[in-house]
Amino acid sequence: MDPGKIKEKLLKAVDSFPDKRILVIGDVMLDQFVWGEVSRISPEAPVPVVQVEKESFLLGGAANVANNLRSLDSNAALSGIIGDDGFGETVLSLCSEKAIDTSPLLIDRTRPTTLKTRIVARGQQVVRVDREDPTPLETDIADILKQGLEAALEECDAVIVSDYNKGVVCSMVMDFLINFSKQKEIPVLVDPKPVNASLYRGARVITPNLKEAQDITSLSAQGEAELEISARTMAESLELEIVLITRGAEGMALWQREKGLFTIPTMAREVFDVTGAGDTVISLMALGLVAGLSPCESAFLANLAAGIVVGKVGTATVTRQELGQAIEKAPIDSLHH
Ligand SMILES: Nc1ncnc2c1ncn2[C@@H]1O[C@H](COP(=O)(O)OP(=O)(O)OP(=O)(O)O)[C@@H](O)[C@H]1O
Ligand SMILES: [Mg+2]
Repeated sequence: MDPGKIKEKLLKAVDSFPDKRILVIGDVMLDQFVWGEVSRISPEAPVPVVQVEKESFLLGGAANVANNLRSLDSNAALSGIIGDDGFGETVLSLCSEKAIDTSPLLIDRTRPTTLKTRIVARGQQVVRVDREDPTPLETDIADILKQGLEAALEECDAVIVSDYNKGVVCSMVMDFLINFSKQKEIPVLVDPKPVNASLYRGARVITPNLKEAQDITSLSAQGEAELEISARTMAESLELEIVLITRGAEGMALWQREKGLFTIPTMAREVFDVTGAGDTVISLMALGLVAGLSPCESAFLANLAAGIVVGKVGTATVTRQELGQAIEKAPIDSLHH
């Protein structure tokens, strides 16, 4: 296909995002930022005293994937758990601001909302404080979660599993999710945690970063030949169709069962903050596939979008307008797969 035609196809796919609906299931988190000034050392211990000036909250973990999807104007539903506490309420109100459908999201009274607090002074993180209970879900909670999932799956075009090993992604939930999605022919894409790899058997797509790929396979994945072996090993042992290994500054490597490996160099011009780029990648991979793009075109779009978010400060997202402009400027001739 000539580059003009491919650009047209990509732009048309992006135009269709508002008609798509993606279900995100996984570990919902809240990121809290506390900004302040340090003017003295504590008399109680050799630590700085931070005088708080402002505080803010951002959706994290699975909720940040939903946030990415909404920023691209697609519909997003979020499943997982929050605690019966004020931070859980903050998650719900942030979701409501972004019009994320939280009807499949449950309150688990036995654990707190997962919270990551960063205390920042003079532009530097002083300390991070985590609150979480990563024990596996109780059977009764998993059962209610599955009921909510069943209803949500009836309406969605694809499912993204965002696993941070905090308890939601367990065999009770994943066995149900993967079987039900197979029946309904809904693609399942997984952003993995290596310890849980066996739970992803039968998913369509997995998007590990390089380190995660190495941990899942116990193989190194340095050059292209090794990346191909690593991806094939993962795909064969977990019965996956597509493996997308993200490689930070090196871009990404897409592996497909029929076509083997295809590497895509990074599109980033300036890099400010790479956190959350993985969430952007899996969001675009899902939207690209449900919009009718090939895996290769979807990965190209995901890489383009990741190149935009790493150029922004803070956990950032990308809009359809920004993506459209990037498509116009992109060197499409590299896309011949
Ligand atoms: N330093 C960088 N320079 C250019 N592009 C980058 C850089 N880091 C990340 N990217 C882009 O973002 C994509 C995903 O990044 P990465 O491989 O770091 O994922 P990740 O480790 O899952 O990220 P996350 O912190 O969100 O979990 C890469 O494939 C690339 O397109
Ligand atoms: Mg990641």
